[in-house]
Amino acid sequence: MKTFKIAIAGGGSTYTPGIVKALLLKEKDFPIDEVRLYDIDEERQNDVALLTEKVIEEFNSQMKLSTTSDPKEAFEGVDFVFSQLRVGGNKMREKDEKVPFKLGVVGQETCGPGGMAYGVRTLKPMIELVDYVTAYAPDAWIINYSNPAAIVAEGIRKERPDAKVLNICDMPIGMLLRMAEILDCSYESIEADYFGLNHFGWFTNVYVDGESRFDELKEYLSEHGLVTPAQSKDSQHSDVDWLKSHSNVAEMMQLFPDYIPSSYLQYYLIPQTVIEQTDLDYTRANRVMDNREKSLFDAITHLKETGEMVEGFKVGVHGTFIVDVAMSIAFDERKRFLLIVENKGAIPNLPNDAMVEVPAYVTSRGPEPIRMDAVPLFYKGLMEQQLASEKLIVEAATEGSYQKALQAFALNKTIPSSEKAKEVLDGLINVNKGYWPELV
Ligand code: NAD
Ligand code: G6P
Ligand code: MN
Repeated sequence: MKTFKIAIAGGGSTYTPGIVKALLLKEKDFPIDEVRLYDIDEERQNDVALLTEKVIEEFNSQMKLSTTSDPKEAFEGVDFVFSQLRVGGNKMREKDEKVPFKLGVVGQETCGPGGMAYGVRTLKPMIELVDYVTAYAPDAWIINYSNPAAIVAEGIRKERPDAKVLNICDMPIGMLLRMAEILDCSYESIEADYFGLNHFGWFTNVYVDGESRFDELKEYLSEHGLVTPAQSKDSQHSDVDWLKSHSNVAEMMQLFPDYIPSSYLQYYLIPQTVIEQTDLDYTRANRVMDNREKSLFDAITHLKETGEMVEGFKVGVHGTFIVDVAMSIAFDERKRFLLIVENKGAIPNLPNDAMVEVPAYVTSRGPEPIRMDAVPLFYKGLMEQQLASEKLIVEAATEGSYQKALQAFALNKTIPSSEKAKEVLDGLINVNKGYWPELV
């Protein structure tokens, strides 16, 4: 059986041990002889590698783990690159959240002005990564989690249209897992129809063993949101902040009962609720630094001091999903996933060149999106506005245009006026010195 080589870009990520564990759990069907971690922060990556090595040892696996900050060493001859960069780290995520919040609008990692700020920081390093992989492993697929995935996907489509990149998001999977728990069925028996953009989409039907259970599900969700009757197996999205997001699905469904919205739509549709629920001095970035990041690095310190392994990380839907997508490519499995792909007619009344999130079958030649009916005007209008904002922020970043950045901010639904757009944009330019290209 062929064995595979995988590079993980952003090797120092909090998700690395979980992804490697997800690979080990599937090792019999998907043999990996080598995992190479690649990061610009060698110290962080070496620490994460120590714990990851221990995970490999526990599986008695022959999988070889190495670390490097040299792109050639990292990517030459690999079959897949899993990408998970966080440009600027959580310290900059905190600014993406707090600068807008303090000016009265939503501040979030991937949505609204915070997402656009993170996007402008990320595009150049992401395109550089695509170029390294194209040079050193021209046949490899990059499976990209790096956020903001919608903006990253559009940037790569525009700047490197032929690159073998598949952009993915674990949120729809996390939501489906919760839906299965609410409907009291297995995750494997559930399938969904869905349309949208990344972090901006709707489930339009949900089937269990081929039969629609949508009405029943919608009834539950408009009362309880996506809060499951018992502790959810989606441990990755289960802390206090996530529970608020899941509950907010109820408010959105009471307003617009047609479909089930991605919980991320709360930032666009009910921003007042989100702002009222937020402690402006302790945002999501603070919680992530104090929990996910800290528990991983505490486990690493413990390992260094005692040689003992305490978990400190989760596999979650995140690890399982990226491995399943890679396997569908590697073995031409044609599995159906919700993915971020170029529209090319899948949603007939959106532009062909829009990066949309839709169901797609994944083969060894990449994703084959399914075609669906035209979407109703309200949803089309929302998506067109968001798409225009995403395209403009990509153009702003690649052309160095202040005017386009202002247009992207002014068009974004999270920002109520053009005066506010300018104020928030200027605030974000100020804190992103050294990360953003100059906008003139
Ligand atoms: P993290 O800060 O723990 O790790 C990110 C790593 O990327 C760090 O080690 C950092 O040094 C490295 N890095 C930054 N710039 C780099 C560059 N130019 N080249 C190589 N490495 C670089 O972040 P995290 O919380 O583990 O998240 C990682 C990424 O995954 C983020 O972008 C996050 O938003 C994303 N994510 C996406 C999804 C999704 O659904 N698409 C889900 C979860 C996480
Ligand atoms: C979900 C989303 C990701 C996002 C993550 C944030 O998984 O799909 O795109 O990065 O949540 O989680 P966090 O715990 O870092 O707020
Ligand atoms: Mn996501």
